[in-house]
Amino acid sequence: MTLFGAATTRGGSGRRNTLGLRNVHKVRLETVKVLVIGPGGREHAIVRSLLEDPNVSEVHAAPGNAGISKLVPTHAIDGNDPAAVAALASKLAVDLVVVGPEAPLAAGVSDAVREAGIPVFGPSKAAAQLEASKAFAKQVMAEAGVPTAMARVASNAEEAADALDAFGAPYVVKDDGLAAGKGVVVTDSRDEALAHAQSCFDAGGTVVIEEFLDGPEVSLFVLCDGHTTVPLSPAQDFKRIFDNDEGPNTGGMGAYTPLDWAPEGLIQDVIDRVAQPTVDEMARRGTPFVGVLYCGLALTSRGVRVIEFNVRFGDPETQAVLARLKTPLGSLLLAAAKGELDKAEELRWSKESAVAVVVAAENYPDTPRTGDRIRGLKKVEELEGVHVVHAGTKLDEEGKVVSAGGRVLAVVALGTDLVEAREKAYDGVELIQLEGAQFRTDIAGKASRGEIRVSYAATSSVPKVQA
Ligand code: AMP
Ligand code: GLY
Repeated sequence: MTLFGAATTRGGSGRRNTLGLRNVHKVRLETVKVLVIGPGGREHAIVRSLLEDPNVSEVHAAPGNAGISKLVPTHAIDGNDPAAVAALASKLAVDLVVVGPEAPLAAGVSDAVREAGIPVFGPSKAAAQLEASKAFAKQVMAEAGVPTAMARVASNAEEAADALDAFGAPYVVKDDGLAAGKGVVVTDSRDEALAHAQSCFDAGGTVVIEEFLDGPEVSLFVLCDGHTTVPLSPAQDFKRIFDNDEGPNTGGMGAYTPLDWAPEGLIQDVIDRVAQPTVDEMARRGTPFVGVLYCGLALTSRGVRVIEFNVRFGDPETQAVLARLKTPLGSLLLAAAKGELDKAEELRWSKESAVAVVVAAENYPDTPRTGDRIRGLKKVEELEGVHVVHAGTKLDEEGKVVSAGGRVLAVVALGTDLVEAREKAYDGVELIQLEGAQFRTDIAGKASRGEIRVSYAATSSVPKVQA
């Protein structure tokens, strides 16, 4: 099995692989105090993992959700306000701030925290442009020689129509700005493609129109400290709301990891051709990338292609990926924040598979219905190897957990293989009671039946790291 987590640094002195260095990063036990920014499932998963790190003495969160507030103190500040986050981090005297979502990163929260002298895991506002502007990401990829879909930027209907006709169907039209995974339309209908472009123009934006990429998608999270890259175990996300990838795009309806079907050498290929060149290019531009470079990839017959970059952990992939990570998370993120990833210990993973199934509110991804009681949470936690990660939840006046967002929670399960992890996750989902709840029934289904086909050969010349 592939061992993920070897650090790679490429610079003037050439490529350096630090595989084999263990426990060099010196953090005194039980001294790290962490503040996690964000309200969702990803942040709940991060908080859970941080609490398992023996080096972490205390965790705080802002604003958090009902699940997070049961674990750690939460603070009712605006997590998108750089000054407010920096002030809270200083007041709490934390050693590390972990910024979860894209919005605070794009707003400059990391910059403000760094200016306050506190290490932060999360890119600067300038580096967060890799997610905040798809056009910027394309420029960086072009400069760094990173393989991605051919694309054109359009700012009016005429340019959009030209670009659509140049690439042909299926049409891919992306809102250039942040849209929580919902700004992308992939369709065979030229009219629908044009209508989406027009709605973005009407809102004062531009669009990126791309060639369609065929082949299975992979999410690979790469920890970066500005120079060094450390890949986590890859995951697959399910973006559409309905089974069989039908219906509109969402933030993500479920995930699983690892990918037993992933081609040999994939991770090394992505590091060598995508992540490291991007990190090197960002450093060259004077905007070093610190945080998670989320590589959203398509494994096409012509090789790996970047569908998108995100500048933070994926949601809900993180819920599944962190469930398998045995390396203490706090020490790892602190090493990244301090530019010391090359000294971090080699990553260790559970041999089990993890599946996360999202339970979403009625009418998500449109205007989700909120304020409904959620029952059955305790029963899920009683299942062996199963837990609930809260996303859009809050406590009502009576202290009961109610829905407060589109994606309400995820049931996460570990199992000896995908078949077992999947069964356990769905056993948990069946116990959740939420009026109008929606969930996909096919998360990890094809993979567990060995039905994913990849016609892709890794092109990296660097030998694969073997466990
Ligand atoms: P994005 O927000 O760029 O990740 O796009 C959301 C989803 O749209 C992706 O996960 C893909 O499923 C789909 N998508 C985006 N770009 C393309 C493309 N060029 N070809 C095929 N599907 C795409
Ligand atoms: N799950 C997709 C994302 O986090 O953007």
